[in-house]
Amino acid sequence: MRVTAEQRFAVRLELNGRTREGLAEPRTQLCDFLRHDLGATGVHVGCEHGVCGACTVLVDGVAMRSCLMLAVQAHERRIETVESLADDDTLSDLQQAFRRNHALQCGFCTAGILMSCVDFLERQPDPSEAEVRDMLSGHLCRCTGYTGIVQAVLEVAAQRQTNEEV
Ligand code: FES
Ligand code: FES
Repeated sequence: MRVTAEQRFAVRLELNGRTREGLAEPRTQLCDFLRHDLGATGVHVGCEHGVCGACTVLVDGVAMRSCLMLAVQAHERRIETVESLADDDTLSDLQQAFRRNHALQCGFCTAGILMSCVDFLERQPDPSEAEVRDMLSGHLCRCTGYTGIVQAVLEVAAQRQTNEEV
């Protein structure tokens, strides 16, 4: 079958726990599909070539740059964006720690960083500061100097460890 750039394909995926559908051209990036077609505007788009990390989402639980994935590749996949983190009006522990530690200013990078942190803490529940900084090296933040972000991640890791022990 010959596919043209203008042709549109049905994409069905799970977005933050709900089945969503839309039509996407073969060249449409996942970040644009999530923002413009499915309304997940918490997905931020910066560099559009995999450098800044602002567009990071979870795909089947793994942090991915949504500017480096085509919407059609997300068919039948499970996508989580920053909109999934809060429980109604209650921010997640990570979001609360970011607020407490002044880990954001303009917030442009924050959604992507939070999603990377979610994945990171799943895989590394008791990280060292160096490991947190290594994870953050995949994200560009022009405001904070990263110190508050590192503190927030370490604080959440410590809190979760304590909660597990109780
Ligand atoms: S917009 Fe995807 S990494 Fe920058
Ligand atoms: S808070 Fe502004 S870019 Fe990170």
